[in-house]
Amino acid sequence: MLEIAGLEVEFRTQRGVVRAVDGVDLALEVGSTTGLVGESGSGKSVTALAIMGLLPEPAARVIGGSIRLDGVELVGMPEAQLRRRRGSEVAMVFQDPMTSLNPVMPIGAQIVETLRAHLRHDRRAARRRAVELLDFVGIPGPSERLASYPHQLSGGMRQRVMIAIAIACEPKLLIADEPTTALDVTIQAQILELLRRTVDERGMTLLLITHDLGVVAGVCDRTNVMYAGKVVERAPTAALFRAPSHHYTRGLLQSIPRLDGPRKTILASIEGLPPRPSDGLRGCPFAPRCPARLDDRCWDEMPPLERLPGATAAHLVACWNPAPVPDERASA
Ligand SMILES: Nc1ncnc2c1ncn2[C@@H]1O[C@H](COP(=O)(O)OP(=O)(O)OP(=O)(O)O)[C@@H](O)[C@H]1O
Ligand SMILES: [Mg+2]
Repeated sequence: MLEIAGLEVEFRTQRGVVRAVDGVDLALEVGSTTGLVGESGSGKSVTALAIMGLLPEPAARVIGGSIRLDGVELVGMPEAQLRRRRGSEVAMVFQDPMTSLNPVMPIGAQIVETLRAHLRHDRRAARRRAVELLDFVGIPGPSERLASYPHQLSGGMRQRVMIAIAIACEPKLLIADEPTTALDVTIQAQILELLRRTVDERGMTLLLITHDLGVVAGVCDRTNVMYAGKVVERAPTAALFRAPSHHYTRGLLQSIPRLDGPRKTILASIEGLPPRPSDGLRGCPFAPRCPARLDDRCWDEMPPLERLPGATAAHLVACWNPAPVPDERASA
């Protein structure tokens, strides 16, 4: 249903041009749940904003590639048309509900406004639907809660309200960008469960963005790992955990925060920092940090995203020297 091909997004900054997304391909099937994982600055949010048509123009520009939703090209679509599609076709949940909710408007009025704008519900129907939505996302006493202001709700409850608003117009595609990062661990699990139930029961397609592989593990059928504006590994989530083959993915897996301990800094186990997308590397962007880099090739030539030898057809990796797939028989 969503097909992204060769997407390239640039930012013009005072320090020059930054290629934030560098040739991303991504295909989401109807009803699937897909994860997009990577460190800060890898281009996850910019990819999402490009899908939403919400890139901060003119600083940011799509300079190549295409984004098709049910066959309709979104790149270059006039803003008025994009606006109409937002909410009704694609909707997004952001990390911090406090910045996306209006602090001076009761939450009920915010949901009603969305419904009236897109679905032209009359006031009473919109109110009834708002109560249903709040109930669906697990807000206790939904009709009384309509009058609450965002600051009167806990962080988890605010995120539930954001999900209610996002699904109000039954979008086909829901994008959640770090929806649980600001929440503590137990609430995090509840919100992820709610997201999974939402897309499942309403037949939506989900793109879940996070820096935390632990988050995609319980939610996503397929996972894409992004590094420096590129997808470097893609696989069914179980296969990715069983046989991570890009050395960046392996590092990410070793740095999954443990639920029972203090949250470690992400990627404590990989030395160095990601290159800035403007560094103009020719080879693999991970080469400077890679424990398995080959002397010439990795510096000189970007490896294509290709089927991992010995793995299923759905497991792709962009690496000249990927970690081998463990032999199932040997480990059995
Ligand atoms: N407003 C901006 N102005 C200039 N450059 C930007 C801007 N927003 C993003 N970028 C560039 O795009 C790159 C990708 O940013 P993006 O927000 O997509 O990262 P991300 O993967 O979502 O990271 P995070 O996990 O921190 O949210 C950044 O490294 C930065 O170089
Ligand atoms: Mg982001």
